[in-house]
Amino acid sequence: MSFYNMLGKIALVTGGGSGIGRACCEVLAREGARVVVADINLQTTQETVSLLPGSQQHMAVGVDVSDKGSVEAAFKSFHKNYGEPPSLLVNSAGIAPMSPFTDTSEEEWMKVIDVNLKGTFLMTQSFTKMLLDGGGEVQGSIVNVSSILAKSGLPSLEPYTASKGGVISLTKSCAASLIRKGIRVNCVLPGMITTPMIQPLNEVYQKKVMKIIPQGRAGHPHEVAEAIAFLLSDRSSYMVGSCIEVTGGYMM
Ligand SMILES: NC(=O)c1ccc[n+]([C@@H]2O[C@H](COP(=O)([O-])OP(=O)(O)OC[C@H]3O[C@@H](n4cnc5c(N)ncnc54)[C@H](O)[C@@H]3O)[C@@H](O)[C@H]2O)c1
Repeated sequence: MSFYNMLGKIALVTGGGSGIGRACCEVLAREGARVVVADINLQTTQETVSLLPGSQQHMAVGVDVSDKGSVEAAFKSFHKNYGEPPSLLVNSAGIAPMSPFTDTSEEEWMKVIDVNLKGTFLMTQSFTKMLLDGGGEVQGSIVNVSSILAKSGLPSLEPYTASKGGVISLTKSCAASLIRKGIRVNCVLPGMITTPMIQPLNEVYQKKVMKIIPQGRAGHPHEVAEAIAFLLSDRSSYMVGSCIEVTGGYMM
């Protein structure tokens, strides 16, 4: 069943090889979009494409979002494939390595900021330029994936929580810059979602968190993807710079 009618639109999803990104690809394909699945792991992007209905109209692209050259090459390759720019973008690629604050090296800090924050900037900038360069009436929509931990913080995740706080600020600044050019920018703040990202957290810790989630369980990637699809769609046409929490009530 389609809720958002994205028939014929091209949607680019980073981190599309796994977790929330993959769930987004599935929801957007259900809505009729042609989906560009972008991830640093080319094999998982291809797996995602094979899971989508009408898989021949979708495309897998290997991209390192933290590398400007790689991002530009990815945009060129799908422009060549479709002959037009994407009008929908989801920035879901991310990493969340844990280390005690006093042991965190400068390299570890930079790596997380580069992927989570700079990656969101590079993708958003290339997307915007390509869409505006296309001429004609622009109708774009971007959703960034931040985290509820951007608000609460968490020990041993300082680079991650700082990068996600940056994603919220970047969302709001870009939202203000781009809305009069025809591009809406919003973000989601997921809570604990069952994806490979939370696998390193041991069972005891996960159970402890479950206890303080009012809904009493972790979220499913599709529950985040549905909120992202809404923000991407025309149904949220008056939402600009919004940050939607998808947390089961955690840290509300
Ligand atoms: N799972 C959670 O509990 C949770 C909670 C809040 C926010 N988030 C955010 O949701 C987003 C998706 O995470 P997830 O839970 O689906 O994790 P995931 O590990 O399942 O997916 C992340 C994807 O990003 C890709 N990626 C990593 N570095 C990349 C790079 N440099 N370039 C391109 N792709 C890269 C990975 O290959 C992977 O496919 C992340 O931004 C994460 O911070 C997750």
